[in-house]
Amino acid sequence: MVHRGLEGVEVAETRISRVDGARGALHLAGMPIEDLVAEGLLAAITRLWSAAGRPLPTDLREALGAARSAAFSQLPQAAPALALEDGMSALRAGVELLSPEDAVSIISAVSVFTAAWVRARQGRSPIVPDPSRSPAEDLLRMLLGDDVSSLAARSRALEAYLTAVTEHGMNASTFTARAVTSTGATDRAAVTAAIAALSGPLHGGAPGPVLDMLDAIGAASQAEPWIKAELSAGRRIMGIGHRVYRVRDPRAAVLETAAHDLAEAGVGGERLALARAVEAAAVQILSAHKPDRPLYANVEFATAVLLEAIGIPRAAFTLCFTCGRVIGWLAHTAEERRDGRLIRPRAVYVGA
Ligand code: COA
Repeated sequence: MVHRGLEGVEVAETRISRVDGARGALHLAGMPIEDLVAEGLLAAITRLWSAAGRPLPTDLREALGAARSAAFSQLPQAAPALALEDGMSALRAGVELLSPEDAVSIISAVSVFTAAWVRARQGRSPIVPDPSRSPAEDLLRMLLGDDVSSLAARSRALEAYLTAVTEHGMNASTFTARAVTSTGATDRAAVTAAIAALSGPLHGGAPGPVLDMLDAIGAASQAEPWIKAELSAGRRIMGIGHRVYRVRDPRAAVLETAAHDLAEAGVGGERLALARAVEAAAVQILSAHKPDRPLYANVEFATAVLLEAIGIPRAAFTLCFTCGRVIGWLAHTAEERRDGRLIRPRAVYVGA
């Protein structure tokens, strides 16, 4: 029997996360996602890597800061890679050139290269990292500069986002990272392959299209006719649906809270009301359109609203996703290296 898309197939035992699609619960290293987001990004790295058996530096924050500076000094060599038009291709090519290639260097370089690519596209010079800052605050600084208003509130929101997306079970990019690792290849090889997997619109590429949709809808009153027209044309509603969740993605709630907090601090907020109206209309229309398939908002829906409010350019959304998810990939590569076996499924030949 062929398991199309490997749906429902269990390929590993893991201590890194538990995704309960029926109840809409997500635990990372044994902790509910809501609590982990409250603890912050450094705690998430520590918990995920510890669960996977990956050694951690004595002072993680300091090590990440030093690694950001080291990655910045490699920008001249990485410049041709970072000049690529497509951001995810640029990131992949930049990581290929990275040295050293330990896990702390890789996650730091992903942030530095992301910011450098965004700035280069805007015709601006890269901003030197500040190792004394938290990883999320420094990423935001390197993206937007020091003089952006409400830097602290935006940094808190970005940290909530990065933490919420660090890890999510055996999704396509994580499976890719594990498959590459199972051949004995390096962490860097696994991460570059995972970046390629994450670049597709069915995985990490949906938040940009979610904003395009909100732009096209414009006002809450237009949500219903617009969504119905899309479905009649045979198109999918972006940011809705999930392979595992049959209820609302728990990360959507965490990110909506972060967007709400940011709006309270006076940043963004305009879109939040429209997004809530569009989500409600989409869920209602889809329940009639596809009664057998529960379809609710996924993480990309809330991501779109949150990252836009923070001030991240649309072209960098999937890159920011990578800045968080690379932490989970590097937990899985450690676990795969410790417990795994060469991943080698089979195909059923149906040719001549
Ligand atoms: N809009 C409209 N219909 C949708 C839909 C959406 N967003 N998501 C799923 N469906 C429908 C499909 O058309 C399909 O109907 P069919 O059986 O009549 O063809 C049915 O629901 C099952 O879809 P399927 O593609 O088998 O589900 P999947 O588990 O492979 O897909 C996603 C999961 C996320 C890829 C899918 O829901 C999707 O394309 N969503 C939009 C893109 C997106 O938000 N991606 C980010 C993911 S985090």
